Amino acid sequence: MPAELVVGAQWGDEGKAKIIDYLSKNTDIIVRYQGGANAGHTVVVDGKKYVFHLVPSGVIYPNTICVIGNGVVLDPFFFLQECDALNSQGFDVFNKILISDACHILLPFHQKIDSLIEMSSAPNQKIGTTKRGIGICYADKMMRTGLRAGDLLDKQLLEEKLKGIVERKNEILVKLYNTDTIDYKELYERLHNFAERVGHLITNTSYYLNQELKKGKHVLLEGAQGTCLDIDFGTYPYVTSSNSTTGGSISGTGISYYYLKRVYGISKAYATRVGEGPFPTELFGEEGEKIRSLGQEYGATTGRPRRCGWFDVEVIRHASRVNGLTDLVLTKIDILSNLDFIPVGVGYELNGKKLDYFPSQNLEKVKVIYEELEGWKENICGINKFEDLPLNCQKFIQFLESKVEVPISVISTGPDRIHTIVRNVDVE
Ligand code: IMP
Repeated sequence: MPAELVVGAQWGDEGKAKIIDYLSKNTDIIVRYQGGANAGHTVVVDGKKYVFHLVPSGVIYPNTICVIGNGVVLDPFFFLQECDALNSQGFDVFNKILISDACHILLPFHQKIDSLIEMSSAPNQKIGTTKRGIGICYADKMMRTGLRAGDLLDKQLLEEKLKGIVERKNEILVKLYNTDTIDYKELYERLHNFAERVGHLITNTSYYLNQELKKGKHVLLEGAQGTCLDIDFGTYPYVTSSNSTTGGSISGTGISYYYLKRVYGISKAYATRVGEGPFPTELFGEEGEKIRSLGQEYGATTGRPRRCGWFDVEVIRHASRVNGLTDLVLTKIDILSNLDFIPVGVGYELNGKKLDYFPSQNLEKVKVIYEELEGWKENICGINKFEDLPLNCQKFIQFLESKVEVPISVISTGPDRIHTIVRNVDVE
């Protein structure tokens, strides 16, 4: 059995968790490969809502093993809180999660520095981060000064490494930010307790995953954030600090690329983004507010209102190229019901010339070319057959499909697991 990947095709919050939940039925192992507690994945099962941040959402399936890959930055204290909460809801998380020994440990000073930088930046220089310390932890990883999960397993190594790290960070906290220092002893104790509780979960997950794939197990790679937030292919610097795209799923798990057979890109039937940065099809004022309130577009991690806009074909074509999408999953199409016309961004112009691609620079200067499609008035929430959709809704989907040139295999028509149209995926 191959590996499959679910990746955000826009700016995150596309509804990845719902399709991951759907595909989990046929999956043995689910892996997070990048990001950390900045992600917020919401799944609704039988009307009950679950929000996941660090734990892969497949944990609610009894027979699925979940893996935190080496590309993730793991906040150990947040992770424990999330596991304890899931455990008290009846999910046996401590027996079904593995943590890569090479994944980096995100510590309280990472969050503190993230918040301090955001607060002290000039308004036009703020990234609008989730303040979860993500970028600062990845910076330490690249500086080769980070702490990895495997280091927690050796008391002496942990002591030595942590002392040096805390000393250096305290200097930065005092000299650069004029703020309180971190208490080494307290942090050591907390990390030691963490290792005592979950040390048995820490292992070489690259080896484990390749072995399991070789045996024929089915692995699902769970992307967080989205293509336009990717550190290389997103709207830099208004991005997250990891490769959320297909390349990151290989380097963030250590599986051989050879096993990756299917890549699902997830996109809303419109577009949203949280935080700062360019957003060509953004809607302002009442129009934006209408989509926000219909779609309940508020961040699952920070509660911030999401910026809303129309579907942008150039974004999805970019996602298709960068990720090698084999399928597109269209979510929240029910939110667009009751509109007379639905505009779709079908291309960009820059300085009066048509652009054939999503640019790495000057995105804020592009002029969007729109086409308007006729809307539908019927409530489509929960419809699970394509033929049962109103004709204009079918036409809308077919129009998007023809423009992005990727088959739309799954369409989500409501929040629940069963509110799904499946056109080309075998999951029974
Ligand atoms: P960071 O990942 O917290 O450093 O934030 C960097 C940018 O990515 C900000 O614009 C965040 O709003 C955005 N971001 C991070 N995680 C998510 C997510 O899960 N969904 C949507 N946006 C996100």
